[in-house]
Amino acid sequence: GAPVEVNIGKAEPGQLIRVEWRGQPVWVVRRTPEMLEGLAAIEDDLRDPNSEQPQQPSYAQNRYRSIKEEYLVTVGICTHLGCSPQYLQDSFGEQVEGIPSGFFCPCHGSKFDIAGRVFSGVPAPYNLVVPPHYYIDDTTILIG
Ligand code: FES
Repeated sequence: GAPVEVNIGKAEPGQLIRVEWRGQPVWVVRRTPEMLEGLAAIEDDLRDPNSEQPQQPSYAQNRYRSIKEEYLVTVGICTHLGCSPQYLQDSFGEQVEGIPSGFFCPCHGSKFDIAGRVFSGVPAPYNLVVPPHYYIDDTTILIG
């Protein structure tokens, strides 16, 4: 499939932009400072803390799972059986207390933080997949 360009120049803090790449949903989330700060607090509660999903780019293997901290780029497909998780912006606390925003898969209840990291005790074995991508310039990401 062809690479896909995403313009992030108008993304609001907290906004999720959806694009399609190789028939898969890809999400770009402009994370707020609060979202980024929250990532440090939950590292004891992760199932795949080192992002061991095969074929992860090396830039997915850090706390933010991204090239630039502000932007998460991830495939929007649950690593359990392939459902599409929901983005719960400021309403994820019902799933994981104290964590305002994240992704929840309604099929079997897997929970992912705002870096796509899977929480312990759910069916999904791996973090959400980060697709290969790079920044063409400050406001444009090329996926693929
Ligand atoms: Fe997401 Fe099973 S497909 S939890």
